[in-house]
This record gives sequence, C-alpha cells and structure tokens, in this order.
Amino acid sequence: LQVNTSWEAARKIPQTLFGLFFEEINHAGAGGIWAELVSNRGFEAGGQNTPSNIDPWTIIGDESSIYVKTERASCFSKNIIALRMEVLCDECPAGSVGIYNPGFWGMNIEEGKTYKLVMYIRSMEPMELTASLTCSDGLQNLASADIVDNNVSDWRKIELQLIAQGTCRTSRLQLTTSKRGVIWIDQVSLLPSDTYKGHGFRKELIHMLMDLRPQFLRFPGGCFVEGNWLRNAFRWRETIGPWEERPGHYGDVWNYWTDDGLGYYEFLQLAEDLGAEPIWVFNAGISHRDEVDTTTLRPFVEDILNSLEFARGSAESTWGSVRAAMGHSERFPLKYVAIGNEDCYKQLYQGNYLKFYYAIREAYPDIQIISNCDGSSKPLDHPADLYDFHVYSNATFIFLMKEKFTRTSRTGPKVFVSEYAVTDPRDAGNGSLLASLSEAAFLIGLEKNSDIVHMASYAPLFVNDNDRFWSPDAIVFNSWQQYGTPSYWMQTFFRESSGSVIHPVRLASSYSSSLEASAITWKDNEDMFLRIKIVNFGPHAVNLTISATGLQAGVDTARSTVTVLTSSDLLDENSFSDPNKVVPVSSGLPSAAEKMQALLVPYSLTSFDLAL
Ligand code: AHR
Repeated sequence: LQVNTSWEAARKIPQTLFGLFFEEINHAGAGGIWAELVSNRGFEAGGQNTPSNIDPWTIIGDESSIYVKTERASCFSKNIIALRMEVLCDECPAGSVGIYNPGFWGMNIEEGKTYKLVMYIRSMEPMELTASLTCSDGLQNLASADIVDNNVSDWRKIELQLIAQGTCRTSRLQLTTSKRGVIWIDQVSLLPSDTYKGHGFRKELIHMLMDLRPQFLRFPGGCFVEGNWLRNAFRWRETIGPWEERPGHYGDVWNYWTDDGLGYYEFLQLAEDLGAEPIWVFNAGISHRDEVDTTTLRPFVEDILNSLEFARGSAESTWGSVRAAMGHSERFPLKYVAIGNEDCYKQLYQGNYLKFYYAIREAYPDIQIISNCDGSSKPLDHPADLYDFHVYSNATFIFLMKEKFTRTSRTGPKVFVSEYAVTDPRDAGNGSLLASLSEAAFLIGLEKNSDIVHMASYAPLFVNDNDRFWSPDAIVFNSWQQYGTPSYWMQTFFRESSGSVIHPVRLASSYSSSLEASAITWKDNEDMFLRIKIVNFGPHAVNLTISATGLQAGVDTARSTVTVLTSSDLLDENSFSDPNKVVPVSSGLPSAAEKMQALLVPYSLTSFDLAL
C-alpha cells in the first residue's frame, strides 16, 4: 500500500463530511434521547374526542372506588383533553386509588437523583393528592410528596422536586388519593434534573453522539417528516412554545404518539449542543398517501419561511421573538434545508419543490437546498445545492458501492448520502461486524470522492430496545442502558475525517478485490497524524507493506497506534449483556515508520495512526 502524502496530491475533505441523521423512529426521541419520563403527558394521545384512550396511564383501584374519564376540560386550548378522576370511596386505603404512568416501558429512577414533577390540577373541593415514584410493583416507594390544597377550583400549576431514596429501572409515577371527590389532572411532566446542560437530553446518549464528533444533524426524519397521511406529518409550529401547549401528534409511519417535547426548537438546540450544523428536513406538502397540489401550496411555503425566521430571525422579528421567548435570543445558524424526504418519484414533487426552492432562495440566498432526486446517474432537471442519496442493502452490495461516486459527474449539485446501512437481516441481524465492515468500505469510498460527496450519515441512529420497529440501528438503549452496534463503533474510525486532508493511495495485493483503503492527515491541537484505514472484507489474513512517501517529518513511533475492529464471528453483535463484544481495540505500533509491515486479520477494519 503506497501513500503519497505530498501536498500537491492532497485534497481537503469538506468539514461537513460525516454527521448524524436523527429520526423519531423506534422511540429514538420520545422515550429516548428526550429525557421526559411521562408518556402521553397531556392525555391527548387517544385523540381529542371523548371518551378517549389514556394509554399508558393506568387506573389504580376498582370500579367501586374510582371512575376515570377524559373530558374537554383543560386550561390549554390546543390540548383540550384533561383527565377527570372521581374517587368514590369515603375511607379509601392510602395509596390504593388513583392513576399511574409507567413512562416508556418503565421509568429509570435512580437513588439520590432529583426529579422535577410539574402538573396541572383542579378540584372543587379541598384536595389531597400524593405524587409518588414507585417500582413497577407499585409497592416499593422511591419518593413521594403530598399536595394538600384548599383552593384549587381554578387550574393550578404544581411543581415539586422528588428525591429518589432507591433505584428501580422500571418505575412509575403514581398520583393517588384517599379522599372522596373529583380531581382534574392535565399536562404531567417528570424530568430528571441532570439532563444535558439542562436542555432535556439524556446525558449518556448525548455523550455517545459527541464521541462521533458529528459535523451536522439532519432532523427530524425520514418518513416521520412525511407521515402516511399529511394530517400526521411533523408540523414544526405545533412543536414550539411552552411544552404544555404543544398538541403532540401521532406518527403514523412508525406507529406511536409523541408529545413533541422534542420539537423544532429542541432539535436546533441539540445540533448546537453537539457542535453540528442543523439540517432541517421539512415536509414538501407530500406524505406517503396524499399530496398538496402545487397551485395551493402557498401557505405551506409561508409556513416554512416562518420556520426559517424562527431559527435565524432577530429576536425582534415575528418568529425570532418566539424563539427568544423560549430562551435562545441568539440566532440558530441554520444553513441547510431538505425539501421533503424520498419524494422525488411523487407526482407533485417537482412543482412543490420549485415553489419552496425559489421562495427560500430569495429570502435566504445562503441556505443550501437539498433535493430528494438522485443526481448520481443523470443530471437533475431542477436547481439544487445538494441531492439526497439513500442506500440500504446487503453487505456485498454496500461494499461494492464504495466505487459508486467515482463515476459520478463532478459538475452540478454535491451529494448528501443522508441514509446508508446494511439492512439485509442475513448480513446485519441487529447490527453485525459484517455490516459494519461493508459500511466502512463504503465510507472510505466516500472519503475518496469527497470532492463531490459532501455529507454522509448512517440510518437509523437510535433504537429503544422495547420498540424495535427498524433494525439495525447505530445505538441501542432502554430506560437505563445503552451500547453501540459495530456500525456505531465503525463510525468512530471516521470522526477525524471531516475537514482533514486526504492523500492518494495505491494498493496492490492478490486480495485487493476485498480490500479498501484511504489515508488522511489531520491535526489534534498541534500534533499531526497520518491515518491509514484499511478494510479487509475477506476471510484471509493479508500481509501488506505500507509505505508513505512525501512525509515532511519523520514518524514518532512512540506515539503511533493501531486500532482494530474485528471479532471471532462475522455475525457477532453487541448486546446489553455483552456491549463490548465488537469494539475497536487500540495498542501501540512499535513498527510505525515510513515503511512498515502490517498484518490485516480476516474481516477487519484497521486504522494505523502514525504520529508525525
Ligand atoms: O431510516 C429509516 C427510513 O428509511 C427513513 O425514514 C426513510 O427516509 C427511509 O426509507
């Protein structure tokens, strides 16, 4: 393997090359990175007609002691449903009558941690209510507080801090009383006090994202943006402002309700917290099953222009002031939008696209606009700055896709590979070594073609193990644990690539059809490194002589390292019980030199990091 590190042959990789695609799928957000513990906090999930389904809220007590129903009685006009709880017993046994919320397959309550409870209540009589955190048996009390109030005939906001005296991973929030009477309850929220920067994100999951050093965050979906029907699509305006006033919506593609605590504002905040460029994918007036005619699209276009003003307008502008009121007077640096998701083949896409395109171009000339149409095989017939490219397939196909953009035209819009993954269950399972190696070869191909490919992100990012709708995913979690699949760890090999410098490599081996390699140099503070990554996608160990020509300085062997991702079986996966089965292993590289011998083990991804 020859690496030519001369500056004449080198090229800078775009700063944006590798990033994240976040989709609200598999409970990635609600019950995932969004730390809210209550599910269906406003009782709206069953719809605005009454009586409605209050799932997963559950009644404590029998029919002779309690009668619970939903009513259009809330103090929030957009969230008009509230819960009416009528206690029928005079001397109810303490704690035996009320309701509980199990959150998303059980709340993770940890000893010593503080949980902030907010809810709205009303009663015509003096009220006694106990809020408690209990383990799933309802018996082990982890924290509780009594709310005694003689004057709640108008809706009252209650705020409490609950400090857990024990740990239970499958806890629930109980609201109980032993006093006869009627209590209305609405908008109940329970948040751990230690979310990332107090922004509502689950810390451990944020840290896993940060470890990938993502350069962009594409949000909030995928199909989630489209909906099966437009009435269930993501509407940014319904997801901003005070959380109590957000109506929430049913994501009909991935089949679950979201209270939309993680809304448009929070996605912009998430991107900022990750140090990533936000990429707002908005609905193009097109769902899976219905479309807005281009002649009637104007209100949709205005709505999107408003979303851009919300992100980028001054704190005095109409929508910028809404953002400022939410706590972010600084503008969010939104520079990328995607018009729709996978909609190119839809009848009205072209027409709708152009309406959005010209309106945005005129109002925000610097915004980079992403088309859904694949420009890799034939030129687009409409203007765009980037085009979306999605690929899901088997391991061999994705491996061979490393060459895909070598043949693509160098003129016209740049490429955004915004979704890629090995998904064939025989190769990928729930995230296998094999899948990750094939994806690594594909990404090396993207690095080499990063003169035309400017962005790439794996999909999907997250799965809550209790709602595995789509598999595999990069990060698996439940209420209290998380681990990376091999595809997650594979991406850590590329975290220094964005903004680095790529050098030509020449590979000659009898196994070259199953090898793929790239070389980059990058700076870590003042320290310079040459990284040579090689995928061995075959069953043979491969001996290589690696030589780097044109180095300005010698190799510092003592600070050089080698990192390998491999495992004993191709289909090995990580799991909660064995989260580190397939993870990169690093060691010193005593042989590091301008010319060195290297052994690539079968089915592996190896990174040689030479300190210069
Ligand atoms: O990543 C899962 C889904 O795959 C996305 O929602 C969609 O864009 C694609 O079809």
